Amino acid sequence: MTGHGGGADGRNGADTEAMAGVGRARLVPVVTIDRADDAVPLASALVEGGLPVMEITLRTAAALDAIGRVADRVPEIIVGAGSVTYAGAAAAAIDAGARFVVSPGFDGGMVRTSHDRGIPVIPGVATATELMQAVALGVATVKVFPADVIGGPRLIEALSAVWPDVRFVPTGGISADNAHRYLALPRVVAVGGSWMAPRSVIAARDWPSITRAAAAAVALVSDLGPR
Ligand code: 3PG
Repeated sequence: MTGHGGGADGRNGADTEAMAGVGRARLVPVVTIDRADDAVPLASALVEGGLPVMEITLRTAAALDAIGRVADRVPEIIVGAGSVTYAGAAAAAIDAGARFVVSPGFDGGMVRTSHDRGIPVIPGVATATELMQAVALGVATVKVFPADVIGGPRLIEALSAVWPDVRFVPTGGISADNAHRYLALPRVVAVGGSWMAPRSVIAARDWPSITRAAAAAVALVSDLGPR
C-alpha cells in the first residue's frame, strides 16, 4: 500500500502504514527461513504471540518465496525483507511483497530503488558518515548495526544529539535482557532481533515455542507507547 503520505517516513512516497506498524510493535523479529513451507506457520505463530511485524532475511534461497507467501496468505502481518545489500535485491524483495526493506549497511542504490518503489527502507549505519549519507537521500529511519558491538545505547544518544530528527531501529546483539535500554531512548522506534524467533527453533518447526517467545517479547514492551 502506498500513498498514505505524511509522517516522518512519508518521504519519497514511502508506505507510511508499514513504518507505523513497526512503531506500534516496537519490535522487529528478524527471521531466517530455510524452507519456504515454514513461512506461513511462522508468521501465524508470531501473530498469535502478538507480533504483527516480521523481517525475513535474504540469506537463504527460500527467502523471496517466503516473503511472497506471507504477503499473500498472512495479511495480519507486515512483512519486510532484511539483509538487503544492493539495489537488485531490494527490487526482488519488493516484487515478492516486502512492505519494508532493511539493510545491515548503507548502499545508495538500494535506498533509491526502495524509495522509487514507495517502500520504506531502513539502511544500516555504524558511523556518523554513513548516517550523513542516509540523511542526504531522505532516509528518516536507520538501523544501527551491530548495535550492541559498536556502542549500544550510548552511540545512539551521541548520534541523536547531532541528528535529533532521525529515528533508529537498533539491531544486533539485542535480547530480552537489554532491549529496554534501547527502547527507553526517545528516537528508538523499535529494536530488531532474532531472539524472538531463532533459526534453530524455526528449523525445528516448534511454532508454540515461537508464539511463547513472541508473547514474552510483547510483554516486555507492553508499558511502552507507539513511536
Ligand atoms: C540482523 O540481521 O539484524 C541480525 O542478524 C540480527 O541480530 P541478532 O541475531 O543479534 O538479533
